[in-house]
Amino acid sequence: MEKRKLEGQVAIITGSSSGIGAGCAKEMARAGAAVIVNYPVPQAQAMAEQVAADIIAEGNKAVAYKCDVSKEDEVIAMFKFAEDQFGRVDILVNNAGLQKDAKFTEMTLDQWNFVIGVNLTGQFLCAREAIRIFMKKGVDGVSKAAGKIICMSSVHEVIPWAGHANYAASKGGVMLMMKTIAQEYAPHRIRINSIAPGAIATPINKDAWDTAEHLQQLLKLIPEKRIGQVEDVAKAAVFLASDDADYINGTTLFVDGGMTLYPGFEDNG
Ligand code: BGC
Repeated sequence: MEKRKLEGQVAIITGSSSGIGAGCAKEMARAGAAVIVNYPVPQAQAMAEQVAADIIAEGNKAVAYKCDVSKEDEVIAMFKFAEDQFGRVDILVNNAGLQKDAKFTEMTLDQWNFVIGVNLTGQFLCAREAIRIFMKKGVDGVSKAAGKIICMSSVHEVIPWAGHANYAASKGGVMLMMKTIAQEYAPHRIRINSIAPGAIATPINKDAWDTAEHLQQLLKLIPEKRIGQVEDVAKAAVFLASDDADYINGTTLFVDGGMTLYPGFEDNG
C-alpha cells in the first residue's frame, strides 16, 4: 500500500470539537496523522471526545485536549502535551475561531476583545509555539518540511462585512500575520499558508442556511450555487499539510465556491 500523505506525523487542530476543525481532524487522521482534538471549554468536552472516538474507530490515533487558545500558559501546555503524548508535532491547523456580531456603534469592548483574542491572538500564540518546536526538530525525513501551519482565515480577510467588524479585522490580521511569518520562517523549511473558507455549513453560520429562504439568499452570494461542506475545506487542509504542497508558502487558498468573484456582476453588474 502506498504510504499515506501524513503518515507518522502529528497534528494539532485547534477548535476541532465541531465544524471545520472536526472535519480537518478526521481527514488528517485518515491521511495518517495522529491528531490532538482541541476544544476550548468543558461544555465542548463530550463533542471533542466523540470526534477522537470516531477517529480511533477508523483505526487512527487521536486524543481530545482542552485549551483556550487565547491563554498563553494553556497553549504552551497543549504543545507540551502533544509532544509527550505522540513524541513530536509536525502540523498545526490554527482553526479555533468565533463570531460575536454587533453593529459597530453597538459593539462592546468585550465583544471586540473576545473575537480578536481567540481568532487572532490565539493564532499568534499557537503559531509561535509550533514554530519553536519545528525549529528544534528541523527536517528529519518524515516530511520534506520541518513543520506546516495552516491558518483558518475566511473570505472576510478580503470581503468587508458590515455588522462583523471584529471578525473581519481578526481575519484581515490573520492574513498578514500568516504572510509575515511565512516570509520569516520559510528559510527554516517551515511552510505557513491559510485557507479562506466561504460559507461552509457549520454551527457558526446556521442562521444563514437553516431555512429555505435564508439559504436562497445565501446562494445568491455563491457562484457555484451550493453551500460548502467541511470536507471541501478538510481536503484542502490535508493537501496544504502534505509534501504535495512543498513549494506552496505564504498563500491563501480560497475554498469558497467563487464567493470572492463578485457574484453581483454575474448578470453584467
Ligand atoms: C463566517 C460565516 C460566513 C462565511 C461567509 C465565514 O468566515 O464565519 O459565518 O457564512 O464566512 O460569509
